[in-house]
Amino acid sequence: LDNGLARTPPMGWMAWERFRCNVNCKDDPDNCISENLIKQMADRMAADGFKDAGYEYVSIDDCWFASERDSNGRLQPDSTRFPSGMKALGDYIHKLGLKFGIYEDIGTKTCAGYPGSYNHIELDAQTFADWGVDMLKLDGCYANASYYAYGYPAMAKALNKTGRPIMYSCSWPAYISNPPYDVIAEHCNIWRNYGDIQDNWDSVSSIINHYGDNADKFAEVAAPGQFNDPDELIIGDFGLTYDQWRAQMALWAIFAAPLIMSVDLRNMDSEAAKILLNKNVIAVNQDPLGKQGVRIYKDTSIQTFRRELKDGNMAVAILRTSKGPTPARLDRSLKDLGLSAAVSYDCYETFQGKFIGSLSPDDEVTVWLNPAGGTYLMTCHPNPKPNARTN
Ligand code: GLA
Repeated sequence: LDNGLARTPPMGWMAWERFRCNVNCKDDPDNCISENLIKQMADRMAADGFKDAGYEYVSIDDCWFASERDSNGRLQPDSTRFPSGMKALGDYIHKLGLKFGIYEDIGTKTCAGYPGSYNHIELDAQTFADWGVDMLKLDGCYANASYYAYGYPAMAKALNKTGRPIMYSCSWPAYISNPPYDVIAEHCNIWRNYGDIQDNWDSVSSIINHYGDNADKFAEVAAPGQFNDPDELIIGDFGLTYDQWRAQMALWAIFAAPLIMSVDLRNMDSEAAKILLNKNVIAVNQDPLGKQGVRIYKDTSIQTFRRELKDGNMAVAILRTSKGPTPARLDRSLKDLGLSAAVSYDCYETFQGKFIGSLSPDDEVTVWLNPAGGTYLMTCHPNPKPNARTN
């Protein structure tokens, strides 16, 4: 969507994967979906370096709503969990220099059963703009398959009409077969196109496989202003190992994916925070060319991916999918990793920024990969071609 937003993949935090539809503030006041939770996350983003690293959207997901619209038909938040109202919450987030994200659904109800935007598109767009919303995730539950092609563009138009820049995240392709990606990209900044991420490696690897299997189709449509969204980062949660956290960060960088954390920032593993804050990996993700990477190779044990960056730079991820028992050695030429355009490349291990060497396409890199998710991420800069031979 050409609205000036999401020129690189959006970065932020979103409530869903970690906090779900917890509306029980009586028994679980610290973790229920409420203005307190969202404010605390915004505080941590600003204070703990996430904002400085580029994470900017603070997004509420489903379950913020009152069960009914107000007497004027406007959406309203649950008044016990959001007693100050949404405008005040937006103001709080903006004062920290962050942006305010909200959730709705194109159908009659949200996935969790709250009022949807069906028949209220213009009013809801205006309500969000009045509240100071900067991002809308528009889900696709409770709608007929034939409605998406009307409803999603209609909301894009309504958001545009408010005059407020609102980054627009669509779940449209996740709800239909054979999505018309060119049309979707015209109307949406980012779009979900696969099932919800869950906090386990099976889920993350099935997303990686889906993105690998559809690499060309997905990569073709990704560009500044329009990115595929493989769903939230679950780094720092409960279900992945340290290696699998690194794997998700590396692959999401290769995929030019939105970096939307869903983790309890108040209480998180410091190694997980380091992964999320890694400047070199974020730089790969945020490369201004906005090209999505593709899978180059897959067998039952190893997958390799390559992303073209600006100025002929390249990022490569090598992922070990096979299980134990010990770290495994892999030797691969740059050519086999998809790097053959330059005479030589200066290559770095990306997480640590450690120089590997100046390598020609026939030179091999040697990496050791831990079982089940061990990942090596490499960034390579081309050396200029020498002048053509004259003799
Ligand atoms: C769908 C979406 C999720 C989340 C829930 C909320 O499942 O894909 O990301 O927003 O709805 O109910």
